[in-house]
Amino acid sequence: MNELPKKIYLLGFMGSGKSTLGRELAKQLNFSFNDLDDMIEEYCQCTIADLFTNLGEDHFRLIETKILKHTQNLEHAVISLGGGTPCFNDNMDFVNQNGKSIYLQIKPEVLVERLINEKAKRPLISQAQNKIDLEKLISTKLSARSQFYEEAHHIVDGNASIDKIIEEINSLINF
Ligand code: S3P
Repeated sequence: MNELPKKIYLLGFMGSGKSTLGRELAKQLNFSFNDLDDMIEEYCQCTIADLFTNLGEDHFRLIETKILKHTQNLEHAVISLGGGTPCFNDNMDFVNQNGKSIYLQIKPEVLVERLINEKAKRPLISQAQNKIDLEKLISTKLSARSQFYEEAHHIVDGNASIDKIIEEINSLINF
């Protein structure tokens, strides 16, 4: 069995379960759990929603890349990225060079159900007025983002139960 990678980066669309899964995976591996959105909020002392409102998305992406770089020195860590992290500023190259990356792939219709009641926390979907708007928004963003997500070292079916996903990740990272 190979040594476990020092860092596991979880990526995927908003609502794909990166943080819930990441926390559980970290517990089972005895790794630390790190959520990039939380790291950004702690660094800026401000919520992500307020950062978007006060600084705009372009500035947010610069901060996001800067904080992502702070994960370079982490060891034995699971890091859950924001949904957009892989799609800006060559972040995916950094991720793939610094750890094992895993894309949690989820059916768009499941994302809609999960995100419909969570719009307030997520500035990029907060303008969707209704379910149809949200479906369109998710479908457009997912098509644009998939090419980045698919650069991950591994793609796992995020529609399965947490236990099944963790089993699959274990088999991938322990090979
Ligand atoms: C974003 C996803 C969010 C957060 C920000 C932007 C995106 O993270 O980083 O609102 O561009 O998809 P989650 O995927 O954890 O919701």
